[in-house]
Amino acid sequence: MSGNTSFDFSALTERQKYKLLIGAVVPRPIALVTTVDSQGRVNAAPFSFFNCLSAEPAILALGVENRHQDLAFKDTARNIRITGVFTVNIVSDSILAAMNVCAVPFAPGIDELQEAGLTAAAGDKVACPRIAESPVAFECKQHVTLEIGASRQIVLGEVLAAHIHSGLVNDRLHIDPYGLDAIGRMGGHGYARTRDYFDLPTMTISEWEDLKRGPSARKSSSI
Ligand SMILES: Cc1cc2nc3c(=O)[nH]c(=O)nc-3n(C[C@H](O)[C@H](O)[C@H](O)COP(=O)(O)O)c2cc1C
Repeated sequence: MSGNTSFDFSALTERQKYKLLIGAVVPRPIALVTTVDSQGRVNAAPFSFFNCLSAEPAILALGVENRHQDLAFKDTARNIRITGVFTVNIVSDSILAAMNVCAVPFAPGIDELQEAGLTAAAGDKVACPRIAESPVAFECKQHVTLEIGASRQIVLGEVLAAHIHSGLVNDRLHIDPYGLDAIGRMGGHGYARTRDYFDLPTMTISEWEDLKRGPSARKSSSI
């Protein structure tokens, strides 16, 4: 190790903090979020300030910035305020290019799904559609929205329903990570695939003690 380059966050600009955070907190999952506006018009946009924070209640979180130019709400944030619902569509490699089209800052009312050639499938429990091509979609209702600054919200949504492509989930509810083929967001314009997959079970105390004692101890304890 060659020491650290340290940063006092109180001395950094917004942009500098952003660059350090998104470059280091990787890979981030990507939610392609579908919503509808007050007239029922469909909107879709990707968010990588996104994660699953709790299983009971089942909570997904989105970090949404306002638009830089005028601090106006992004369509996604505004639609969630109005309708109280949204759908998170997981981004697989097969819809990566379409996801990137949905990130274009289209005017409100433009249907990004149509622009990107994606198919809207009606929601079961929410007014907004899910994306048929997405391997997993979670229908959510807004649980709470945290105003964490003048221009940012963290939206917590409770999952009401999940739709998973058949064949990706088995009867033990394990999801096939290869079939899912999820994309992660790295820093800048970088992305990562999730095909370098491996298992690493958490050890019990006794398994850890055995491991610390070394191979000979493991051999004798198994006799
Ligand atoms: C992969 C990816 C991840 C993104 N993550 C976020 C994010 O977490 N928060 C955010 O405010 N914008 C994020 N954006 C930018 C929005 O997708 C973009 O501003 C979009 O135009 C918003 O659309 P809307 O106005 O229809 O909601 C991301 C863009 C890409 C390509």
